[in-house]
Amino acid sequence: MKSLRLGVNIDHVATVRNARGGATPDPIRAALIAQAAGADGITAHLREDRRHISDEDIARLSRDLEIPLNLEMAATEEMLAIALKARPHAACIVPEKREERTTEGGIDVVGHFARLKPIVSALGGAGIRVSMFIEPDRKQLDASRELGAPVVELHTGAYANASGAAQDALLKHIRNAAEFGADLGLEIHAGHGLTYENVKPVAAIPHIRELNIGHFLIGEAIFIGLTDSIQKMRRLMDDART
Ligand code: PXP
Repeated sequence: MKSLRLGVNIDHVATVRNARGGATPDPIRAALIAQAAGADGITAHLREDRRHISDEDIARLSRDLEIPLNLEMAATEEMLAIALKARPHAACIVPEKREERTTEGGIDVVGHFARLKPIVSALGGAGIRVSMFIEPDRKQLDASRELGAPVVELHTGAYANASGAAQDALLKHIRNAAEFGADLGLEIHAGHGLTYENVKPVAAIPHIRELNIGHFLIGEAIFIGLTDSIQKMRRLMDDART
């Protein structure tokens, strides 16, 4: 089975910083600790309203990280210009609504195909690896491939919020979508809402190559520190894979 990468999302270090409007806690310091703790990549979402990560954070991450930066972004001209300047390793296209607390669902690649096409082409043309954050749905996988995105990230939020038989059924959707997408030649990532409790069944899906995890890891860091929080997640992922 191919290895499973862990991307650590540092957005919520910036959420805490911005609660007081100062410079601490510094999300770049968190990113460097994550890097030293064994994270395979850093993910950061520059939202339109700049509620957590700032433009300056993205510039500093691009400059200071040795591991790949995955920039989560809405498909807008403004974000495209920032991505082309920052040149992250990867860009994950997410839907964005101002009133939402977090990314509430996958992007509708089928419905927004014409609007997404030039943005995905421009990012890809600049050597940025584009992923589409989608629901585990065959039509969205087909459309992502047609769009020319090499990667999809499957939204695990519904699975994470469910329990019992409903959660089992949602896991099955994710597993089927991962297999279907990999057969199309897409690289499969997954993320949203993953915790120590729910990560293993997702990490055990052999076609998934990367998990992006943020909110839980940053919250857990309050109690056990960021290094331990990340390394425990890494161990659970590795256990699930063997
Ligand atoms: N992947 C994507 C595309 C996301 O938008 C987010 C949340 O910003 C995550 C992963 C991480 O989700 P969580 O913070 O719930 O772990």
